This record gives sequence, structure tokens and C-alpha cells, in this order.
Amino acid sequence: MPQISRHFFKAAAIFLIIGILMGLQMSISGEHKVTGAHAHLSLLGWVSLALFGTYFALDPDKGDSGLARIQFWLSVAATILMTGGLYLLLLGYGALAPVVAIGSLVYAAAAALFAWIVFSHHDLP
Ligand code: HEM
Ligand code: HEM
Repeated sequence: MPQISRHFFKAAAIFLIIGILMGLQMSISGEHKVTGAHAHLSLLGWVSLALFGTYFALDPDKGDSGLARIQFWLSVAATILMTGGLYLLLLGYGALAPVVAIGSLVYAAAAALFAWIVFSHHDLP
């Protein structure tokens, strides 16, 4: 498996665990205020990162590129900012809205870069 896929799966596994802990905390307390943070941590952090890692494992030439490494760091940073910020925002820390917005835009950039890599027919830098 290419190194980048291992990185993606390690990050995805960490987000999976944190997402599950958040889900358990909601289920046990009966307080579902942070559903949005749990949903996005699970789907952006676990599902999407595992899918990115799977794609690069299936196309290792693209996985060896610098662009794939940039795509990895963008998606990890964006997941932390978006879901960490959203968690605190939903708990009432309204000042964190800009962090959620920046995280969302960085995630959009990571998704656009992923699409560009997928559609690219050339050797990637
Ligand atoms: C032990 C593991 C988990 C527990 C205890 C748990 C618990 C919960 C709880 C309590 C809610 C809030 C439901 C509501 O207020 O309507 C929720 C929502 C959600 N969970 Fe989990 N969850 C777990 C794992 C996961 C995983 C692994 C994923 C994704 C791969 C996931 C995706 C979602 C999504 C997308 C929602 C939002 C659903 C909606 O808006 O209707 N959860 N979960
Ligand atoms: C970073 C980009 C994203 C932004 C800004 C965003 C924003 C939102 C917003 C505003 C909602 C409505 C929340 C509510 O009504 O309480 C939502 C719900 C949802 N989004 Fe996203 N989303 C993003 C990415 C994604 C991705 C990539 C997935 C799946 C892989 C996803 C899955 C969901 C699901 C399942 C729900 C319903 C669960 C809930 O109510 O929290 N989102 N999203």
C-alpha cells in the first residue's frame, strides 16, 4: 500500500474513534446538540478520508505525487478545523463560526484538488 494511503487510513481511524466517542457521549447523555459535529467528523473524517486513501491505493502513481500529499494535509487540517470548531460552536461558543467557515472552505479546496487529481491524465508533480 502506498505511504499516502497508510497516512489517510491512520488519520481516518483516529477520526472514527473520536466520532464514535462523540456519538456515545450523545447517546448516553441523551443530549444531541452536537449531532452536526458528530455527523461531519464521521463522514468527512472517517468515510471521506478512507475513500481518498482507497483511491490512492488503487492508483499508486498518483498517490506518490506531491499533490496527493498536499491533498492529504488539506483534508486533515480542514476536518480538524471544521468539526472541532462546529463541536464548540454547537455547545454555544459562537465566536468559533469563522473557524468552521475556514475549515469548510479548506475542505472544499481539498475536494476540488482531489477531483483535479482524479481527472488528470498527466504525470502529477
Ligand atoms: C458507536 C458509534 C456511534 C454512536 C453511539 C452514534 C450515535 C449517534 C447519535 C446519538 C446521533 C444523533 C441522532 C439524532 O439526534 O437524530 C447520531 C447521528 C449521526 N451519526 Fe452517529 N453514532 C455512531 C457512529 C457513527 C458512524 C461510524 C457514522 C458514520 C460513518 C455516524 C454517522 C452519523 C450521522 C451522519 C448522523 C446524523 C444523522 C441525521 O442527521 O439524521 N455515526 N449518531
Ligand atoms: C465542508 C463542507 C460541508 C459543509 C459546509 C456542510 C454543511 C452542512 C450543513 C449546513 C448541514 C445542515 C445541518 C443542520 O441542518 O443542522 C449539513 C448536514 C449534513 N451534511 Fe454536510 N457539509 C459539508 C460536507 C459534507 C460532506 C462531505 C458530507 C458527507 C460525506 C456531509 C454530510 C452531511 C449529512 C449526512 C448531513 C445531515 C446530518 C446533520 O443534520 O448534521 N456534509 N451539512
